Parts: sequence; C-alpha cells; structure tokens
Amino acid sequence: MVKKILFVCLGNICRSPAAEGVFKQKIKDRDLENLFVVDSAGTGGWHVGNLADPRMRETALSRGIELTSRSRKIEENDLYEFDHILVMDQDNLDAVKSLIKDSMNPVNSKIKLILTYSKDSQLDEVPDPYYGGQNGFDKVLDLLDDAIDGLIDSLID
Ligand code: 4NP
Repeated sequence: MVKKILFVCLGNICRSPAAEGVFKQKIKDRDLENLFVVDSAGTGGWHVGNLADPRMRETALSRGIELTSRSRKIEENDLYEFDHILVMDQDNLDAVKSLIKDSMNPVNSKIKLILTYSKDSQLDEVPDPYYGGQNGFDKVLDLLDDAIDGLIDSLID
C-alpha cells in the first residue's frame, strides 16, 4: 500500500518544500520511491503558485537536492487524502487542527510535529528561517535530514 505524506509550514516556500525535497531524495537513495506519494502545503496563501524561496532552493541544491514544488495552501480535503501530515511548528499544528470541525475526529492522530521523529535534536519545532540569515536555512536542512531518517524508518517498519 502506498502511503501519502504531506509536509506543512506557514508559507510553503521554505521549510515544507525543503522537507518534501529531503524526503524525496532519501526514498530515492533507499530505493523506496514506489512506496510513497509526497507533497507539501502552507497554512497561509501569500505565496501560492511560487517556487520555494531562492535562499532555500540554493541551500538545498548545495546538498544535491533540487526543490521544484510550487506553493499551495492546505485544504480540508488534504486531511482525508493524506495518511501522515507532518508540521514544522506548533502554530502550524494549531492551524491544521483548526480545519477539523470535530475534536474527536480520528484524522487528529495523523497530524504530528516533524521533530517528533528526530534522533539527534532536543528541539520541538523547525525554526522559521524566512526573516533570518543563511544559518537558519542550513539549520532547517540539518534538522530535517535527521528527522526524516527517523520518519522513514517508522513508516517502513
Ligand atoms: P515557511 O517560511 O513557513 O517555512 O515557508 C515562511 C515563508 C513566508 C512567510 C513566513 C514564513 N511570510 O510571512 O511571507
């Protein structure tokens, strides 16, 4: 059975496109591409239709990862379409959960902070790099590299 994975951040131009790119690269490297469908979305719609931020694309490319996705806003239907929804921070978690009308709805259990799967980091959230410098973009990729290894391991058990 193919598993459908959605990564979510605020703008869908920095963290979640990076997560989508890292996940795709890792499943390619591990020859697991046929097991997954992967996408990303934002809780805000300001950048809909845009490629990822040039700073995020450059930083990913320097590690051999090309980010090609276009920003889109998450929709209620995504909660039913995808099997696992991984968010970058608590604000994203609250925003995604606010799309669910019924707090008892079982889709609640699909939605998790991505750093739940981290092996190395004590952080709970992937910090938003948008208003910061280059080290913020490197940090995003360092955190995602670790957590997405843990995520993939958990999904292929
Ligand atoms: P992202 O970063 O949520 O990682 O894509 C942001 C991108 C844009 C904005 C905020 C965060 N913005 O305010 O436009």
